[in-house]
Amino acid sequence: MTAEPAALLTLAETTAREAGAMVYQRREAVERMDVAATKSTPTDVVTESDTAAEALIRDRLLAARPDDGILGEEDGRTAGSSGVDWVVDPIDGTVNYLYGLPHYAVSIAARVDGVVVAGVVHNPASGETWTATAGGGAYLDGRAISVTGCDQLGMAMVGTGFGYDAQRRARQAAVLLELVPVVRDIRRAGAASLDLCAVAAGRLDAYYERGLQPWDVAAGALIAEQAGATVTGLHGAAPGEDLVLASAPGVVDELRSLLERLGADRDTP
Ligand code: IPD
Repeated sequence: MTAEPAALLTLAETTAREAGAMVYQRREAVERMDVAATKSTPTDVVTESDTAAEALIRDRLLAARPDDGILGEEDGRTAGSSGVDWVVDPIDGTVNYLYGLPHYAVSIAARVDGVVVAGVVHNPASGETWTATAGGGAYLDGRAISVTGCDQLGMAMVGTGFGYDAQRRARQAAVLLELVPVVRDIRRAGAASLDLCAVAAGRLDAYYERGLQPWDVAAGALIAEQAGATVTGLHGAAPGEDLVLASAPGVVDELRSLLERLGADRDTP
């Protein structure tokens, strides 16, 4: 069976749109959404839509490609034998979804031998869909997109996010306190995949966050990279749970040095 990035992207996009339509309809059907369960902390929530969307996505991907593996936010890892595996966040921005804020996304990435080669991030509430394949550029609703030419940190619009754990959040707030006076402004929109896509589309100059998981990042990081962003960790590390920084190349060095000096990849000062 083919592992062509374009074919994987087509399957990812069709599936993300179907799951997106389902979660959107479920959210629009009620005034208040129930929390079905909590995870790491009482504010780290799962709705029935998260579970239903992941089940739908798993079903569609494995129906089309039964030998692939899947890593999903809600149901963990299913091993495969084809060398292709899928990284799935059925609803990134679950807290926005819970509150009826129209800023959440279905995120699906395909990896071949562990390397992300295709990714889609679909916001069913706005209807916007970001896509990328390795070496094929990044697109928003079919239009090619690119990062900004921002080259001064003082002019940079920087996005970030906070984890669910109180100690981590306190540290993240302390880092932010130092950042606010030296950048143009800060945004905390509440969905990491959409933050990465915002960098790709020039809606942010940079975005960083500590504590992200593969399903938050896999598709959006490819989209950002393919739009010309530098996606990196701190202190020479690859982007990962310690820290993900996605930035227009003109400000990445300055921002990375500052985040390193502030210890943005640590939970302790
Ligand atoms: C969360 C969102 C949020 C980020 C958190 C993530 P979830 O993902 O992406 O913006 O700040 O770190 O955990 O829980 O909504 O899938």
